[in-house]
Amino acid sequence: MTETTIPLTAALGQPFPWPRVSFDPPKPYAWLRAEQPVTRVTTAEGQPVWLVTRYDDVRAILTDPRVSADSRNPGFPRIGARPPSDAERPFLRMDRPEHTVFRRLLARHFTVRRMQALEPRIQRLVDETIDAMIAGDRPVDLVEALALPVPSMVLSWIIGVRAQDRHFFNTASQHLLNGHDVDDPAAPARAREAGAALRGHLAELAAERDMASGPSDDILGALITAERDGVITRQDTVNTMLVLTVAGHDTTAAMTATGLFTLLRNPGQLAELRADPGLLPNAVEELLRYLTISQLVVLRVATEDIEIGGVVIPAGEGIVPLTASADRDRDQFADADRFDLHRQTQGHLAFGYGAHQCIGQALARIELQVILGTLLRRLPGLRLAVDPGEVPFRMYSQVSSVVTLPVAW
Ligand code: HEM
Repeated sequence: MTETTIPLTAALGQPFPWPRVSFDPPKPYAWLRAEQPVTRVTTAEGQPVWLVTRYDDVRAILTDPRVSADSRNPGFPRIGARPPSDAERPFLRMDRPEHTVFRRLLARHFTVRRMQALEPRIQRLVDETIDAMIAGDRPVDLVEALALPVPSMVLSWIIGVRAQDRHFFNTASQHLLNGHDVDDPAAPARAREAGAALRGHLAELAAERDMASGPSDDILGALITAERDGVITRQDTVNTMLVLTVAGHDTTAAMTATGLFTLLRNPGQLAELRADPGLLPNAVEELLRYLTISQLVVLRVATEDIEIGGVVIPAGEGIVPLTASADRDRDQFADADRFDLHRQTQGHLAFGYGAHQCIGQALARIELQVILGTLLRRLPGLRLAVDPGEVPFRMYSQVSSVVTLPVAW
């Protein structure tokens, strides 16, 4: 049976979200793109939401002024443990003009030039982390040894959290993102607890920084200054630090480990990449497109009736623009289900699109290029240490990823 002949009832009878299939998006997406590109489904929480599956439609929704990212709207998709309370809402879940206040505050911390200036420091960190990995026993879990520690440390430089707290941030972020794992009844409660613990910790850090004398050039310093200027509140500071912490390291770690796994599963292309490191920037873009890991982060709600793909999404109903489906749309990317490091990748939606497009994308690109490039250069014999079928995936997480990646060299 091919993807496009899965009967609608079998494909759609289960509540949304559906599990991913290792590297691939959930099976029904291909069927929906072909047969019913904009469709209403029911979530595991019993809420009706509209799935948008084609590339052009997803981009149209993400720039449509009748579409809101404000999670206070009762129709906003409740996918995950629960949406943030009104007080806990980060700028990811705000519309203009509120949203613009935060983008302006943060933009100068994430410019391409500023991120490029960090590259030598990131390279040193990656080299030292690989030195420590090589000095230890084999096999090694690449997630624990490299993919998580590097973005955690880089984030602590930029936003101003303490590097020694990284284990706490890593675990809590993963629990928070995994809140709607339908196979794990404890997941929603664990996600709530993790959210509360993160908030408490970040509030303490903000209070400490507020008491400290002397200027600081990190994001926490900029937020405290904005508080003092009356532009934002302490709660806004905590909400912003939380979204940066969660969005900033779990995503990059997930892309690093799952990206490396993808390369190891495509030995011909891996050999080409080793032979010509100039291919690396496009290989990273293709990995971003092919995996589109932030599968359930992009959520919206209609503020007016919207006609799209031949149907009307009524005002007040939730929308899930499926970027992971859009990036596999054959009308946009030829032979889209194939990983091809030579492909034209421009326009992929792995970092979203429109006003909320990822603020950390320049940093993520540099981290991925440095980590993957250094690994391939320094460890020519790098290989999986287990059968590929034994590598576990997070199937329902808002950010999909391998859980561990045992490697040897
Ligand atoms: C490979 C790594 C990453 C991926 C795949 C990724 C993906 C995304 C996506 C899809 C969005 C759009 C959400 C929406 O439209 O609702 C987004 C937004 C965001 N990302 Fe990333 N991201 C990554 C790395 C980072 C990093 C390194 C940081 C920060 C250090 C970061 C911080 C943010 C923030 C703060 C937003 C919200 C922007 C806004 O609402 O204006 N991300 N990201």
